[in-house]
Amino acid sequence: MMLIKLGGSVITDKSQYRTFNKDQVSRLCREIAESGKGTIVVHGAGSFGHVVAKKYALQHGLIDFSQIPAIAQVQYDVRELSSMVVRELITNGIPAVSVPPGSCFVMEDGKLIVNDSEAIRALAHIGVMPVLFGDVVMDRKKGFGICSGDQIMEILADIFKPDRIVFVSDIDGLYTADPKTDPDAELIPEVTPDIMKDISSGSTVDDVTGGVRGKMESMLRMCDEGRDCVLVNGTVPGRLLSLLKGEDVPCTVARM
Ligand code: IPE
Repeated sequence: MMLIKLGGSVITDKSQYRTFNKDQVSRLCREIAESGKGTIVVHGAGSFGHVVAKKYALQHGLIDFSQIPAIAQVQYDVRELSSMVVRELITNGIPAVSVPPGSCFVMEDGKLIVNDSEAIRALAHIGVMPVLFGDVVMDRKKGFGICSGDQIMEILADIFKPDRIVFVSDIDGLYTADPKTDPDAELIPEVTPDIMKDISSGSTVDDVTGGVRGKMESMLRMCDEGRDCVLVNGTVPGRLLSLLKGEDVPCTVARM
């Protein structure tokens, strides 16, 4: 089984509030369906989450009550986004249902707590893909916080023990610097905890959950003896499908 995260940078335009990349999502869902592999999809929030979350500093938890309407707005926006992703999965023959983390889980000082995964496991067991996503989640210490799709990936990796974990982004993989601003940036084909120490942490978009570096760190946490995690570019047609079929494609593999 595969666990795939469709990053907010591929499913939305991260610089424009609430811009859904419908054609790209549709194509990626088709590639997932065509691979014929059992899959669970998680997705990011992109501009349906980060823009308002950043404006109201939701990642820091409750600071003042002007943030409260923003909690409702972000939860509303990411649920709409998730419905659109699920619609593309269903259209491509994958029965899927959106499971909003903010409605079923809590956090403890930023860490997601999943005491009861029965519904998610039952859905998967019967052949319906549970689709979870980055969301505002209530927090026992901070009032509320932002739970990223990457945190969800870690939880689902524990529950489902996938053979392969794939992060679909809008870049070919991890670079030595930001490839969008630095022409000397080089793709790093393989990342280990040691290599990670030397990499710059720049992020050019409105991201409240840590950018590429945070992603790599969580990818490294998800690796184990028999399982690596891959970061691949989903904006190039066919690349995800090639990767899922086991072909060689440009990407970054995280390994212990
Ligand atoms: C962010 O989730 C959640 C919110 C801002 C509500 P992610 O961190 O997984 O989203 P992307 O993939 O970076 O857009």
